[in-house]
This record gives sequence, C-alpha cells and structure tokens, in this order.
Amino acid sequence: MDKYIIKGGNPLVGEVEITGAKNAALAILAASTMTNETVTIENMPDEADTNVLLGTMNDLGVFTHRTTRHTVRVNAAKARNFPIDNEDIKKIRASYYLIGALLGRFKRAKVVLPGGCAIGLRPIDQHMKGFAALGASCRIEHGFIIAEAKELHGAHIYLDVVSVGATINIMMAATLASGQTIIENAAKEPHVVDLANFLNSMGAHIKGAGTDVIRIRGVEKLHGTDYAIIPDQIEAGTFMMASAVTRGDITVTNIIPKHLESISAKLKEMGCELSEHDDAVRVICKDRIRSTHVKTLPYPGFPTDMQPQITVALGLSAGVSIVTESIFENRFKYIDELTSMGANIKVEGSTAIISGVERYTGAHIAAPDLRAGAALVLAGLVAEGFTTIDNIRFIERGYEDFYMKLRALGATIERVEDERSEQRFRLKYA
Ligand code: EPZ
Repeated sequence: MDKYIIKGGNPLVGEVEITGAKNAALAILAASTMTNETVTIENMPDEADTNVLLGTMNDLGVFTHRTTRHTVRVNAAKARNFPIDNEDIKKIRASYYLIGALLGRFKRAKVVLPGGCAIGLRPIDQHMKGFAALGASCRIEHGFIIAEAKELHGAHIYLDVVSVGATINIMMAATLASGQTIIENAAKEPHVVDLANFLNSMGAHIKGAGTDVIRIRGVEKLHGTDYAIIPDQIEAGTFMMASAVTRGDITVTNIIPKHLESISAKLKEMGCELSEHDDAVRVICKDRIRSTHVKTLPYPGFPTDMQPQITVALGLSAGVSIVTESIFENRFKYIDELTSMGANIKVEGSTAIISGVERYTGAHIAAPDLRAGAALVLAGLVAEGFTTIDNIRFIERGYEDFYMKLRALGATIERVEDERSEQRFRLKYA
C-alpha cells in the first residue's frame, strides 16, 4: 500500500500554484451532461474524485477528453440514462450530482447511494425534498436513489439545513424544469456560485447564487460553453496553514483572496503576517502561533473542510484553543493519530479543547479521510523525526500533486510503495 514518509523540521518557503476547486469541478462535470452540445472546462483538477466521475460519465456514453492536463472537453449527445453503479462511484459523494443533472435532462435518474468521506451521517433528505417539490417521485430502493417525473415544474423550496449538495442538486434539476424555482436558505459557498455561473453560461437563468435565496427560471434546453473553474479555496487554505504549522513563508497563487477571508482572519489572530495581492496571498509565520477559538460554519464562516488543518496548527500554539465542529458530527477522528504525535487535545462531543504543546514527534499514522489526512501530513512536516502516513488514497482524492507541491516548498517527503523504499528514505535522511 502506498504511503507518505516525511522527515519533519523544514520551514516551508516559496510559491505554490493552486489548482481548480475539486468540489466545483464535480458539480460542473455532472452539469456538463445536461446538454447535447460540446462543453470545454478549464482549470479542471487532475485528482482521483474528478477522474472517477469522468470515468462514470464515459460509462453513460458521454464523450470526455482531457485536451491538456487541466482542460476537459465533454460531449453528452450520446448519453444514455443507465442506472449508475460501479465500485468507484460508490466511494465518492458527488455521484449524487448526477441525479439532479439526469433528472433535469431525462426526467429520470437512478444512482447508487453516495459514499465519500466518513465524517458524519450525511443524509440526503433535503435533496429528495427538493426533487419532490419539483414534481419528481423519489425513493431509495436496493441501495439506489431513484427519482422520476413526467415533467418537472418550478417550486418554492425552503431548505431545513444549509446544504451545499442539496442546493447544487436542486439548482441543476430546476434549470430544466418549467417555471420559476426559489431555493431559500440556500448554501452560499463559492462552488455554488461557480456552478450557477457555469449553468448560466450554458443558457440557464439563475439569479442570487451566493446569497441565501436563489431564483431559477427554467429553460427548455442548455447549450455548449467554454468555462474555467474557480481555484480551490481549501487547497489554498491547506498550504496557508502549512506556513503557520512549519513557521514558513508561503505564497499561494492563482487564488481568489475573497474566498479565503475566514481563513486569513484566523491566521492573523494566530500571529501570522499576511499580504494579499490580486490573485495571491503570502503567509509568513515567524513565531510560535497564538491560541484562538474556531467554530466551523457554512460559508462565509470558517469551513469545516479546514477544521483538521487549523486544529493541527493550534495544537502547537501557546495557550488553550477551542475548536467547535458544527457541520459534521464525526470529524475529529484524526485526533487519536495526532495524540500519538504528542498533541494534547480532548474531544467532548463537537468540541476539541486544545492545550498547545511545543512540538510534535513523528509516528506511524493513517489518514482517516481527505482533509484530516492532509492535516496529518502538516503535522508530520513539523514533527521531530520520521512520520509515516498510511491510507494516502484519501488525500489523493482531492489534492493534486500534494506531496510534490510540498517538496517544491522544501519539505522532505516521499511517496513510497514498499518497505524497502521507506527504509532507503530513512537511511538517506537519518
Ligand atoms: C459538501 O458536502 C462538500 N462535498 C464537503 O466537502 C464539505 O465538507 C461540505 O459540503 C460542507 O461544506 C462536495 O462538495 C462533494 P452539505 P455535502 O450537504 O454537500 C446536513 C471535502 O473534504 N444535511 O453541505 O455533502 C449534513 O449532514 C468534503 O471536500 C442534511 O441534514 O455537505 C451536514 O450536517 C467532505 N440533509 C450539513 O447538512 C441533507 O439532505 C451540510 O452538509 C444534506 C445535508
């Protein structure tokens, strides 16, 4: 099994270019199946999750072609509406975006229940409520979600919880429904706005994305487009936090600073110096981090997808910090691993009470999910001695070239496939 091995201790210094946003890319890829015409998508990340979705689209008869590493051409003229079920698609959450897309286009979709990171219960009741309001009958049968309608009509939908996935899914189906749909209490995340912009560039009429009320006037059909995906704010945030953890000096480029405001604000509270440019942010952290409190919230609040990374940073702060996870109830599973590296953190329900320690020490640990896995890599980068991280497939689901980008910033990290390569690394850097 592949793993990362890290020799900790180097401050990370330099520039890192951020790729397109994974979670926007997944929604946009699904939406690209809603037209017969050719769609060209730029800034497409080359990661396991996007590649799994592309593979599944191929199984449906959709033509996809990466013309460059980060540009994909899609033509869904020959798409067939088969039930969607394969071992890989079961593992990714975004498989459920194909329900909204196919329901909109074919008025019927059958998709295997989604997997994704095991970070909590992750129900889909709000998606189903939205589809039902649009006139579809929805049911879960034999492990599949089935949604079908004679025709879809606009509706007024109030989401009981702010859900990124439900907002995106309803927006896609409503785009090809007749009449007007209003989604209230909608998610405001940058990738919700990105999908709305993408659909509008295909001829949709969506207004209000980025606020909590989205208005969609249904259209009969969508056309082809050329579109570039926004940069990944969580990848950017992860490298910004790497600067804090390693007391480094990292400039993240190809970003939208506005999307990073909640992360930047916390880094400043923690004592880091930040300088913002049009499409870059430089994060310099010279001294020991100051403690602070964090509560995860829907956008524009502090993102749950950055909770493990900031916890790893605060674990090294001077003082006591409190981190409250309010989106997913099971997102502290990595704390056991961090404790084995010397962290002093107590979890009580959805709260982590962090008593900062002066140092982490290397250990053999495993990534429990995507963001926690990346956070544990950050811990390894600053830990004394060697850290080995198993289950890196979770990390590689959503970070393109992660260890290579870290290496370019000065990290001593290698991806190894067997014990011998691991031993070679240990001997080389002993
Ligand atoms: C998206 O998940 C992201 N995934 C997650 O990214 C991210 O953590 C999450 O949004 C929050 O920002 C993708 O975009 C593919 P939600 P999603 O629906 O859409 C509850 C990563 O690391 N809820 O906004 O599944 C739910 O339980 C990941 O990249 C319902 O109760 O999240 C949660 O408490 C992991 N009923 C809250 O809403 C529903 O029908 C927010 O979930 C739907 C959600």
